[in-house]
Amino acid sequence: MKTNSFSRRDFVRRTTLAAAGVIAAPKMNAFGKAAKRRVAMVGTGHRGTGMWGSPVVKEFADIAEFVGLCDKNPGRVETARKMMNVSCPTFTDFEKMMRETKPDLLIVTTVDATHHEFIIKGMEMGADIITEKPMTTDETKCRAILDAEKRTGRKVTVTFNYRYSPHRQKIYELLRADTIGKITSVDFHWYLDTRHGADYFRRWHRLKENSGSLWVHKASHHFDLLNWWLESEPETVYANAALEHYGKNGPFRGVNCRSCPHKSECKFFFDVTRDKRLTALYVDNEKHDGYLRDGCVFKEDINIYDKMAATIHYANGANVSYSLTTYSPYEGYRIAFNGTKGRIDAWIKESGAMTLEPYDEIMVSHNFGKVEYIKVPQSEGHGGGDAILRDKIFRNPNKPDTYRQSAGSRDGAMAILVGIGARKSVESGQPVRIEDLTGLRPLAVKG
Ligand SMILES: NC(=O)c1ccc[n+]([C@@H]2O[C@H](COP(=O)([O-])OP(=O)(O)OC[C@H]3O[C@@H](n4cnc5c(N)ncnc54)[C@H](O)[C@@H]3O)[C@@H](O)[C@H]2O)c1
Repeated sequence: MKTNSFSRRDFVRRTTLAAAGVIAAPKMNAFGKAAKRRVAMVGTGHRGTGMWGSPVVKEFADIAEFVGLCDKNPGRVETARKMMNVSCPTFTDFEKMMRETKPDLLIVTTVDATHHEFIIKGMEMGADIITEKPMTTDETKCRAILDAEKRTGRKVTVTFNYRYSPHRQKIYELLRADTIGKITSVDFHWYLDTRHGADYFRRWHRLKENSGSLWVHKASHHFDLLNWWLESEPETVYANAALEHYGKNGPFRGVNCRSCPHKSECKFFFDVTRDKRLTALYVDNEKHDGYLRDGCVFKEDINIYDKMAATIHYANGANVSYSLTTYSPYEGYRIAFNGTKGRIDAWIKESGAMTLEPYDEIMVSHNFGKVEYIKVPQSEGHGGGDAILRDKIFRNPNKPDTYRQSAGSRDGAMAILVGIGARKSVESGQPVRIEDLTGLRPLAVKG
């Protein structure tokens, strides 16, 4: 079976595109050596400090230095500085940080609905941007980011770490190698468990106005994977969703777990104080902003959906059947690509009472032929993706992008537009054309 070879044409095309979606290489100093990148970060919470803060300090001290940290919570930004073990100044005023520290690179890890403010202002003030997904939460902000990138000539990189896991990369490779012929449809079902899934309903994510709903906050990760695997862009989406389990559906409720009178009977009780890191970041800094990391999953104000299903049609003709569930007994997903020559099945079990193997499998079934199983060793940190992505951004920005994993603003846009379209489709009961959201015309073949 020809599973791991690309055609030469593909390889040349992909390596030529290596720089797409990647920030510029470091500038030279007076001695002809690469100067350290001046890095600033806005949003110094769990992801900011854990994915970018401490690892960048530890892994790339020779080539990058933090020159400023900003958060609207003055206590959290100071906690972050100590956790990261850096001595740079901290700020609660973003523009002051940009003016005084003049970073080359700005990492945006704030609440989703605020990303656009910092992406746009950051570029206007001279920095290239590394933003966490989702790039933003609605189509107007999305268009504004695309326009600002064009206007300023700066670069937005969207950190789609999911693309970098070896298991998903192997699927990409199999699809490109024509293993199952033309891909005609995809079945994609994602399960969040009663621990991680429930956590979205405890935090700021529980409000559409912060997260754009899980259609955008969570599912845009999955839509990006689809866009990448299919090498095509979404044309229409039709969706259904409901809130049937969390929020107002609960049997009782409190404000947050620590103060709740139902602690002993609630299966979702979560003692945030047992986690030292979360306590330092959030509990110890509640006095500054009132944000409760252990909010009640049955709060009446929750307005995001907890079950979602969508049909997505791609510009290359592929149809996708997608669902997201947020209260499963285990966490993971199942995906199947149906092609004219066969089918690829893959599944990931990330948690739960099932036997966890040290590898993930891919099943390749050939029409009228044999079935093969491919085993891909597992790795830590979003399937190993986090570390590879950091390395690509900081250490090896010019490394050939053979699997086209680097993502820029167009990728960021196409991922969220499916989620934004799905949210609108649930509200209107009508299918939504992706092009109608921002004017971006979906390409049948990306590249
Ligand atoms: N790629 C991934 O796998 C992944 C995983 C987790 C989170 N994320 C993303 O990372 C981002 C941060 O998530 P998190 O879990 O760290 O959340 P968090 O609540 O821990 O951190 C967000 C921080 O932003 C700050 N903030 C919010 N609005 C601000 C504003 N207007 N100005 C300055 N600071 C502001 C908050 O005070 C907080 O410290 C989100 O966009 C999320 O989607 C990505």
